[in-house]
Amino acid sequence: MDIILKGQKPILDLPYFGRQSRFFEFFDKCITPLMSKNGIYAETNSGSNSNIFMFAKKGYKVIANDISLYSNSIAKAVMSNDKPTDIMLDGSYLDKYKKSYLDRASLFAGLIDIYGYNPQIPDHFDNKLDKTIIKYREHLKSVSEQGIRAYKIYNEDLFTYLKKLQEEHINVDVMFMDFAWPWRDGTKTDEYDTTANVFSKIINSDSKSVQIWDKNNVIKNVIQAINEAKKVSKYVLLSNQSSNYPTPEILEVALLKHGIKYEERHTMLTDAEYEDNLGKETFFREYLYVIKGNI
Ligand SMILES: C[S@@+](CC[C@H](N)C(=O)[O-])C[C@H]1O[C@@H](n2cnc3c(N)ncnc32)[C@H](O)[C@@H]1O
Repeated sequence: MDIILKGQKPILDLPYFGRQSRFFEFFDKCITPLMSKNGIYAETNSGSNSNIFMFAKKGYKVIANDISLYSNSIAKAVMSNDKPTDIMLDGSYLDKYKKSYLDRASLFAGLIDIYGYNPQIPDHFDNKLDKTIIKYREHLKSVSEQGIRAYKIYNEDLFTYLKKLQEEHINVDVMFMDFAWPWRDGTKTDEYDTTANVFSKIINSDSKSVQIWDKNNVIKNVIQAINEAKKVSKYVLLSNQSSNYPTPEILEVALLKHGIKYEERHTMLTDAEYEDNLGKETFFREYLYVIKGNI
C-alpha cells in the first residue's frame, strides 16, 4: 500500500513529541487485516498512546509499554483505574500534581504546552501553567470516562518488556514498534530525554536514567528488538520515517544482512511541515514493514 491521506485529530489528543496521528488511518488500514477477532494489539513504544487507544476503542485487547513516565501516566490515566504507589512529596508547588496518573499526565502535558521540551522545570507556581494543566486534565478525564481499558500497561525498557511477555506466556497478533529513532544526522532525539528522564525526576527522585538510542547503537538494537518481538508475535510491524537514521535504505540492507525478510512494506507520503525538523526536505514518508513473527 502506498497512499497519501490527510491526517485527523485523534480522540486522545495530548502534546507528545513524535506522535504519529497523521498516519493513524493508514496504520488502521495496514494493521486491522492482521488482527484476529479477539486478538491482542501491542506496542513497544506507545508514546502518546493515541494509536493504541484507537485500537482499544475498536474492541481489541491492547498492551501499552513505554519507558517514559509521561507516556505511562497517559496510558494509566485513560486506560486503567490504577493509582500510583510511588508518591514522593517534597513540599514544592508540583506536589499537588503528583497524586494520580491523571494529575501527572496533565502536569507533563501542561509543561510541554507552555515550556516545550525544555529540560528546565520552572521552580515557581505559575497561573498560566495551572490553567493549562486543568485543560488537559478535563480532556483526559473525559477520555477515561469512555471506559476503554487496556489489557496491560508496562513502563519498561522495551527489551525488559518483551522478555516479560515471554515469561508471562503472552502472545500478540501485532507488535507495533515505533522506536525513539535518532535524527538523520545520527544524533539522539533530545525531546525523549526530557519526557523520559527530566520528567521522571519530578515525580520520583530514584528513577533510573534512560539511554536514548543514537547512531552508534540503533541498528544493533533494532535487529535485537525485532528478533525478541518475533518470539511473542504473529506479526511485528516496524515503523520508520524518512527523517531518521537509519534511512529506509540503510535499514533495509541491515534487515536483509541479518536474515530479516519483511513480507510487505507499506508507505505513506505527506508534506514535511513540522515532521522533518532537519528542515532539509519538503516531504516526509512513513514506512511500515510487516515482518512475520514466530507464533
Ligand atoms: C517515536 S516515539 C513513539 C510515538 C508513538 N508512536 C505515538 O504515535 O505517539 C518513541 C517513544 O519511545 C520511548 N522510548 C525511548 N526509549 C525507550 C526504551 N528503551 N524502551 C521503551 N520505550 C522507549 C520514548 O519515551 C517515546 O515515547
